[in-house]
Amino acid sequence: MDVGGAYDGKAVFLTGCTGFVGIGVLEKLLFATKASKVYAMIRPRPASKKGPAMSVAQRLDQVFRDCRFDRCRELGEARWAKLRKRVVPVAGDLCDEGLGLSKSDRATLRAAPPDIFVHSAADVRFDREFNEAVKINVRGSVQVLDLAQSLGCTTFVHVSTLYVTPARARGRA
Ligand SMILES: NC(=O)c1ccc[n+]([C@@H]2O[C@H](COP(=O)([O-])OP(=O)(O)OC[C@H]3O[C@@H](n4cnc5c(N)ncnc54)[C@H](OP(=O)(O)O)[C@@H]3O)[C@@H](O)[C@H]2O)c1
Repeated sequence: MDVGGAYDGKAVFLTGCTGFVGIGVLEKLLFATKASKVYAMIRPRPASKKGPAMSVAQRLDQVFRDCRFDRCRELGEARWAKLRKRVVPVAGDLCDEGLGLSKSDRATLRAAPPDIFVHSAADVRFDREFNEAVKINVRGSVQVLDLAQSLGCTTFVHVSTLYVTPARARGRA
């Protein structure tokens, strides 16, 4: 089965590319597939104790500095620059109405809609307050699904969690 080939010439919309799984997915899409474009939905980072504010373009640059892109860099600057150009950063937040997408990003997506959605953004703090977790992981995912549907996209990959089995009752196998 040629998994990589399924992406030939296709535009992909990826969420969660600043996270552990998403960075790996983005690298594979760039290095190992001929996907024509990757819309990377990233949330801008406001200034906080952790550091200064960062735009989505700055956050994407930070992702590209990750060691998982070493084999891309080893292709040489010209080819690495060409791979990076395939990525279009889109500012968005799972918790915002309509994902908080700007009018211009929506117009860009409508003009050249993604063929495939890969939804990897999630809040993986499993001790989070239930309503907050639902807002991000359930309502946020529905919003990404709605976007895919509104753009006529029929291929949706949802990276879900391993941790779905409830704790066993004590003393039971
Ligand atoms: N890691 C594993 O070994 C593993 C194994 C099996 C399944 N999974 C599943 O894979 C998915 C991703 O996990 P991960 O390990 O990559 O988590 P992670 O490293 O915490 O990354 C989470 C990603 O989601 C983004 N995100 C969180 N809240 C968001 C919001 N409100 N709006 C937009 N983006 C938001 C984060 O963006 P910021 O950078 O802005 O926070 C980050 O890009 C989860 O569903 C997880 O259950 C992971």
